[in-house]
Amino acid sequence: MWKKCKKPGLLIAVIILATTWVHGQEPWYKTTTVYQIYPRSFYDSNGDGIGDIKGIISKLDYLKDLGIETIWVSPFFSSPQADFGYDISNFKAISADYGTMEDCQELIQEVHRRGMRILLDLVMNHTSDQHPWFIESASSENNPKRNWYIWKKGKMKPNNWKSMTGGSGWNYSPKTESWYWASFLPFQPDLNYYNPETKSEMLQTARFWLEKGVDGFRLDIFNCIYEDSLFRNNPGSLKMVPSEENTNGFFQKNLYTQNQTGSIQFARELRQVMNSYTEPKYAVGEVFGKANLIKQFCGNDSGLTSVFLFKSLHTPFKASKWGKLIQELDSNFQNPLFPTWVLSNHDKKRFISRMGNRIDKMKLIASLQLTQRGIPFLYYGEELGMKQAQIPFKSSLDPIPKKYGRLANTLAKWSGESMNRDECRTPMQWDSSPNAGFTTNKSPWLPVNGDYQTINVESETLDQFSLLNQYRSLIRLRKENPILALGQIQEIKWKRKVLQITRNWKGKTIILLYNFRGKASKVKWPETGKIYSLTHHFQKERNLLRPYEAAIWKED
Ligand code: GLC
Repeated sequence: MWKKCKKPGLLIAVIILATTWVHGQEPWYKTTTVYQIYPRSFYDSNGDGIGDIKGIISKLDYLKDLGIETIWVSPFFSSPQADFGYDISNFKAISADYGTMEDCQELIQEVHRRGMRILLDLVMNHTSDQHPWFIESASSENNPKRNWYIWKKGKMKPNNWKSMTGGSGWNYSPKTESWYWASFLPFQPDLNYYNPETKSEMLQTARFWLEKGVDGFRLDIFNCIYEDSLFRNNPGSLKMVPSEENTNGFFQKNLYTQNQTGSIQFARELRQVMNSYTEPKYAVGEVFGKANLIKQFCGNDSGLTSVFLFKSLHTPFKASKWGKLIQELDSNFQNPLFPTWVLSNHDKKRFISRMGNRIDKMKLIASLQLTQRGIPFLYYGEELGMKQAQIPFKSSLDPIPKKYGRLANTLAKWSGESMNRDECRTPMQWDSSPNAGFTTNKSPWLPVNGDYQTINVESETLDQFSLLNQYRSLIRLRKENPILALGQIQEIKWKRKVLQITRNWKGKTIILLYNFRGKASKVKWPETGKIYSLTHHFQKERNLLRPYEAAIWKED
């Protein structure tokens, strides 16, 4: 597709400049669509059963053709892979599982050459316990790296703080008879951001990657960067299971362990680093809590660009519920802020499986996701309708079910959520050849879903009614009509399972209708103007929406 160019640097600079500001004053990220790649599962170029960076490069044309403008790549840095890359042992080197620094540079270049953008996944909160910093830090109380992590001496646990994954977050290290704090799992010790040296090193890490040309970051558990400096006990709570909206859980309120003002302040410091580049840089934080609380992390020029909003994951399939969600997110993230629209990721159940694996329902929600103001995030394979796999706990590789052992089954039943993240991380389904064309190796790192013969890129490309082709046309529609990404809501209402939204932008109006009924619904459109179906491909009857149909009205 790309002919060799004698001055690739110049060409890339021109492409980037041309795509930096779109639609007048808006920076590129306001109208972008992001695609999350879990590198281990995307495409294996060297036949070792594990996806890699060269594999991603070889599939960029697929993403470009799908209409994707920005990719977010889950961590591919040096790591013992105890949490598959979210346990980093060197922030400035690439894990041999995924390739080399040259591959990474080529990836950045190839993404830009296609006029696309790339976000890396920065895990600033913690390192692996195999990181040389932690090994030094744990070695003695006098080590210069001691204060890079959060240590407390004593025989008893320093306080009652629980980790995000349940149980105490304090871990004993007999060598110095001290406890270290880990917000997530014991092998992921938290860095100490009260230490200016640590903080400055981590800001320097962000700079290191920005210098290499990346367009921004996804920031892992950014709500946990700081904890209370006085180590006060968290108050009790009746809540057992934490959720994305309310992270209190395990019978404790996270008053002193999450969403501290220090973390919000740190977002500002990171923004200053990002603002020192002429190109607008984007940062999305993985933070948890209610929209009106976590929006504090954001600030167009003074904080993160956006935060993930996860309520959509659990919103029941009802016009009223989605209508209220859109209202809530829209009102909390008014211009210059904007919401994010997420259906799943590498930690969460695949969305189509929340819909009972129903493609018709998935098409409706996909059209809803891709027609809202803000940034849609797609998780690899979501565009195909890849389902949640069923992988027995005993063969799971994910450290979370390992932590819970036999209890994992009960917890999964109780919470209604999958406790085994392997199930949403199975290899991308490219075609109907063995192992879905993901690898030539007989044993991919995780088993391929059994339905790959029909659910795959190749066969869905050929089927004009496939989910994949619907995504293609929705993304195209979004690009051709900036009113979808940018337009304000003029009116939103729902009646008899039909959600109706009227949007305005620069004097133009559109009307969007989504039919949540499994039956046809009568609707009323303006007399003039054109109507296009977003979910069904035939000519439509003007005042009727078919079951689970979404449609858009535009002025002539
Ligand atoms: C985030 C990541 C998850 C990881 C955890 C610890 O929630 O999305 O995959 O295990 O942080 O880094």
